Amino acid sequence: MLIGTERSASPVQNPKVIMITGATSGIGRATALLAASLGHQVAAVGRRSERLEALVTETKDMFGTVLPLTADVTMPEQMQKAVALTLAEFNRLDVLVANAGLGHRGSLVDSEWSDLEAVLRINIDGVLHSIRACVPAMRATQRGHIITISSILGPVPAPYAAIYSASKAAVDSIAQSLRIELKNENIWVTNFWVGQTHTEFAEKRLGQSGKVASRFPTMTPERVAGQIVRAIERRPRTVVIRPIDRFFVLGGRLFPRLMERILLKVYGN
Ligand SMILES: NC(=O)c1ccc[n+]([C@@H]2O[C@H](COP(=O)([O-])OP(=O)(O)OC[C@H]3O[C@@H](n4cnc5c(N)ncnc54)[C@H](OP(=O)(O)O)[C@@H]3O)[C@@H](O)[C@H]2O)c1
Repeated sequence: MLIGTERSASPVQNPKVIMITGATSGIGRATALLAASLGHQVAAVGRRSERLEALVTETKDMFGTVLPLTADVTMPEQMQKAVALTLAEFNRLDVLVANAGLGHRGSLVDSEWSDLEAVLRINIDGVLHSIRACVPAMRATQRGHIITISSILGPVPAPYAAIYSASKAAVDSIAQSLRIELKNENIWVTNFWVGQTHTEFAEKRLGQSGKVASRFPTMTPERVAGQIVRAIERRPRTVVIRPIDRFFVLGGRLFPRLMERILLKVYGN
């Protein structure tokens, strides 16, 4: 398996058509680069067209190709158009990586409603619109794979991150329901509980942007991308990448009171 910024020396034997939302930066971009280097066909979705064009240029000598699709995941008709363009280019759609997301930090009661609403619209509506646009295309080939990018704050909600945690808990619930709902249609669902990753996420976060859970180590987006590409091959149910994140999720279940104290230290104002 490839991890980090390595590039593949040979293509995979069974290349897939993969739509990645939020492919203009961070985890989505790293996944698009790795997937293209392995020979997969990538439908790259994001709002910043110039970043998508840069991705096309960067991948032009790789085994796979990148189709740039400027679209906003909160707009259902834009996601439907993105899927139609993907089918026109690649004839099928095998995998959706529903990765686009936005953070929020701050007191739930004192935050601007417009900020809270933006997070809900991107992190929940955006995932729903992406899935609802892609599943009909997967049904046409009677197989598919949806990968949702949640967070360790989905199962373990943090203080001053209530709306972000709630949005990711919604993603967890959607993924779990859909896994059962779509199984008979040969469409699999993998949910990722991602831990703190070094991307543009913290600086773009609404509310108290820039502030990170500083006592928590970060990982690279390339490390997450490696696990996403691996999940495309192995189709696990849930992925938690690092031991520290597994400890966090397990600790939240087994020792809720202790975890509340730790969360206040790590995420408190
Ligand atoms: N970084 C972390 O510590 C961390 C931890 C746990 C989970 N995650 C999750 O990982 C995912 C990726 O985050 P990241 O860390 O890679 O952050 P990032 O670098 O900020 O990337 C976010 C991506 O989402 C896209 N996006 C945002 N709103 C969109 C919209 N309305 N329509 C289309 N695309 C949109 C952005 O593209 P445009 O602005 O070009 O549209 C960008 O490509 C998110 O779901 C996040 O919640 C991150």
